[in-house]
Amino acid sequence: MNVTVIGTGYVGLVTGTCLAEVGNHVTCIDIDAEKVSRLNKGSSPIYEPGIEGLIQKNLKEKRLNFSISYEEACSDADVIIMAVGTPSRVDGSANLSYIQAAAESIGQNLEKSGTIIVTKSTVPVGTNRKVKAWVHSKLKGTYEFHIASVPEFLREGSAIHDTFNSDRIIIGSESEYARDRLGQLFDSFKAPIVHTSIESAEMIKYASNAFLATKISFINEIANLCEKLEANVEEVAYGMGLDKRIGSQFLGAGIGYGGSCFPKDTNALVQIAGDIDHHFELLESVIRVNAMQQKRLVEMARTHFSALTGKKATILGLAFKPNTDDIREAAAIEIIKELLVEGVSITVYDPVAIDHVRELFGNQIEYCTDRIQAVKDADMMFLVTEWDDIKSIPLQTYRSAMKQPIIFDGRNCYNLEEAEQSQVIYYSIGRPVVQPKTEIHQ
Ligand code: UGA
Repeated sequence: MNVTVIGTGYVGLVTGTCLAEVGNHVTCIDIDAEKVSRLNKGSSPIYEPGIEGLIQKNLKEKRLNFSISYEEACSDADVIIMAVGTPSRVDGSANLSYIQAAAESIGQNLEKSGTIIVTKSTVPVGTNRKVKAWVHSKLKGTYEFHIASVPEFLREGSAIHDTFNSDRIIIGSESEYARDRLGQLFDSFKAPIVHTSIESAEMIKYASNAFLATKISFINEIANLCEKLEANVEEVAYGMGLDKRIGSQFLGAGIGYGGSCFPKDTNALVQIAGDIDHHFELLESVIRVNAMQQKRLVEMARTHFSALTGKKATILGLAFKPNTDDIREAAAIEIIKELLVEGVSITVYDPVAIDHVRELFGNQIEYCTDRIQAVKDADMMFLVTEWDDIKSIPLQTYRSAMKQPIIFDGRNCYNLEEAEQSQVIYYSIGRPVVQPKTEIHQ
């Protein structure tokens, strides 16, 4: 099929490239000419394992190209997929201005009947109906078109794998034609396809992200109890997860969820509920618990040291999770802000995300491209992102470089035995604090 994808962010770029890989002719549009030119040379603007190779392969095989022209890309498309951003407004609601602009541009450039217009961006329930009206308002002829909602469930950092190994593909449509054609298009991804109404598809996306966020905040609250009751949250999560009704995934206790999706979508769902006079109490608590959890390590440091002022701290890991350079809503950002207020001097390390953090904090903090060098002479170390690159280093090695071997691990990267053997003071999430056998002078 001829497919046009609007927006070359994570979702658009991965979807477009994977649809080309399974044999479709795909044009991805973006308003950023420089980005488009870079993409046409095979260079990816995002850090995502495997994406660049797939882009280059499909460019070469002439199934994929990038353009700034709606005219060129929309006139002949069988399916147009909108994957533009829906950032949060100040009140938490989703800003739909990019969706509206894309829908109106599609309307202006349709030149035939039968095109299926799919929304992949995460949008509030009811938005696809608005898309229909926005497209319609700009049509130059009496063309018929179909709308559909096909929400995205891929994760940053494993986006290609997730696309080819999805648990399900949801297709929300209102016409048999759209239902059948989209069924054919997405069948190549070999995942179970579920057909729903458009509104249900829109809600499935929010409900899924909100539920996963709830699981994380729940296990983090259990972790906080475990710390006080001398239980170990990893044992608890393992024991819970074996129950198939609960499942073991997303029970990893830590310093909360970040990224561009869970924070944005949970806030938006609270807002959506509020708009229809429903107070989504459970989700509001999930959001509050997460905000507190992101500050958990700093709270531990405040309790450990009588004063933090003048101390030297190292933060290992800045991205909101491993295998991405994305720092949106990352716990590291909250930790840096809190430590700066306390007058702590900070050195940070991340294998790929340093430049983004530099844009935020400039010369207020130091940046280091070597993880061992980064902890040199530090009074404390914060483990914030569980990159293999960071956690594959034995604790003993970090300890030898530090001034004081005090470690706050927000991702439970090490087992307690290793911490014990390494003679460090080791705080982690939901597990007992490990103290060295011999006394350390602070
Ligand atoms: C999330 C969803 O998992 C995807 O299904 C969805 O498509 C995507 O949002 C989206 O809406 O676009 P993503 O934000 O890329 O994907 O990352 P996740 O792997 O889900 O992690 C989100 C956050 O939760 C990370 O900060 C991670 O560290 C945290 N997390 C995850 C935990 O704290 N504990 C866990 O057990 C799992």
